[in-house]
Amino acid sequence: MENQAGNFLESIHNDDFTAPYQAKQLSGRLGDLNRPGESLNGVWHFGIDQYDNCLRAKFFEENTHDEEGRPYPLDYSFDTWETMQIPSCWNLHSERLFLYEGSMVFTRKFRYKNHGEKRVFLHFSGAAYVAYVFVNRQYMGKHEGASTPFEVEVTDVLQDENRIVVVVNNTRKRTNVPCENTDWFNYGGLYRDVEILRVPETFIRDFSLSLAPDGSIQALITVDGSLKNGTATVHWSPENPKLYDVVLEYGEDKVSDRIGFREIKVVGTEIYLNGKPILLKGICAHEDSVLNGKSVSEAEIRENYRIAKEMNCNYMRLAHYPHSVQAARIADEMGIMLWEEIPVYWAIEFENENVYNCAENQLKELITRDRNRASVIIWSVGNENVDSDARLKFMRRLAQTAKSFDPARLVSAACLYDGEALLINDRLSEYIDIIGINEYFGWYQPEFNNLIRLFDNSKPAKPVVICELGADARAFHHGSKDELMTEDNQLYVYQRQVEVLSKIPYVKGISPWILFDFRCPRRLHSLQNYYNLKGLLSADKKHKKLAFYVMQEFYARWEI
Ligand code: GCU
Repeated sequence: MENQAGNFLESIHNDDFTAPYQAKQLSGRLGDLNRPGESLNGVWHFGIDQYDNCLRAKFFEENTHDEEGRPYPLDYSFDTWETMQIPSCWNLHSERLFLYEGSMVFTRKFRYKNHGEKRVFLHFSGAAYVAYVFVNRQYMGKHEGASTPFEVEVTDVLQDENRIVVVVNNTRKRTNVPCENTDWFNYGGLYRDVEILRVPETFIRDFSLSLAPDGSIQALITVDGSLKNGTATVHWSPENPKLYDVVLEYGEDKVSDRIGFREIKVVGTEIYLNGKPILLKGICAHEDSVLNGKSVSEAEIRENYRIAKEMNCNYMRLAHYPHSVQAARIADEMGIMLWEEIPVYWAIEFENENVYNCAENQLKELITRDRNRASVIIWSVGNENVDSDARLKFMRRLAQTAKSFDPARLVSAACLYDGEALLINDRLSEYIDIIGINEYFGWYQPEFNNLIRLFDNSKPAKPVVICELGADARAFHHGSKDELMTEDNQLYVYQRQVEVLSKIPYVKGISPWILFDFRCPRRLHSLQNYYNLKGLLSADKKHKKLAFYVMQEFYARWEI
């Protein structure tokens, strides 16, 4: 370490101020196991920290007086700061925070009464995008990734009175996952639940139950557990979303869950659920709402699935990142199959090993969290990435990781077709079970007949799911079928699309883009007004556009 000048003041001259906070990379491995604990949701104080003064000057140490007890001047006042209801997206807290990108310091105090438990964890269901966690003046660790859970053990740190400080930064960066350029809104905050979880000295860290090929239940438990003998005679399906109450006990530890058992596999170009060929009649959805941003409520999740079922869907693509833990739990109950995805989106830095590790960590956190959810049938490792050697190596590793981490599910990705040769020939297809294809013939590609040429030229040996198609339409805006941004044009695009897709034998699934209009800072046309208008419903979900009824009618008659 070079000599520091005598006038060096770390809080203002330390150009690499995040270095002390890289040591402990937190992750989410506890799974979502209905642990006993206390919620830390509620009123938190917050400070808008554009210059990262909390991390630079170490506010969290609360170093308020010198050795002689003389007060230092402070640039923070945790408990007189403004307050915010957590979980929430700060963007919807006030007009001045709507487009804020940077660091926000969240803090609250809480009392903790030891219940005789042996170990205590602080668990976050999601923080967008990177979070630095401090408890009682100590640095506990850092988590990167906006959409997956993480936790840190606080057994030896908690006292009767505690203070937690969390610095959350949502700045888009080239080397983030996703990178700095996406087609959705960059919400920030402690936007999902925060809680204390209590466990015995040795506990069941994670478990996975699935149907073995012989029909028995296969239990993979991280710590030996005594699974009460069970049999799963009724298999989960969208028509009959049967869930079993599962209890695992180990020593003093006991966890419970409600689990459905089903088998999903691909044979040739067919997708089989519980031994029967199926079609994925779906729709895409972002984790977004007018009222709550990315902090969608359970009621909003249920409403999305209800509308999808009204459209005669049995399937939904949760784009482009892991949605709330409730999304798959509610889909289990309501009978909706799911495609879940990590945000390896567009131009990721595929040559960067740190970026790969960040992507793989988010994939593992997602799988750990949701692998007991019968509704989840597909893990997607990315969306619309140009087929390069570096990208192929990156995505192949992810696909192989997903397969080895969870052999009981299918792996896919939203691939791009070859626009020059009009061919489905993405090299990643070799390493995934289902070939996802995004295509916008009739919209971004006005020459609609090229869709037919694409299918005539392509002979995929695996099932293809059209995981995006669509067109923008301003709700209630009407005109001729050729007038862009009208509901009539969107209707025309959908009519021509289903007409062609219904005839392609290896297309086994469709999820049009998208269920409802969503916030998007890339969309500056005055009709769009910072919204992507490809929804089949308006952003408030009060209005169904004409194209909604095309999918509703098509899915009612589309069959193997
Ligand atoms: C892309 C992308 C979406 C985007 C959509 C659009 O396919 O995957 O995230 O919103 O097209 O352009 O509307």
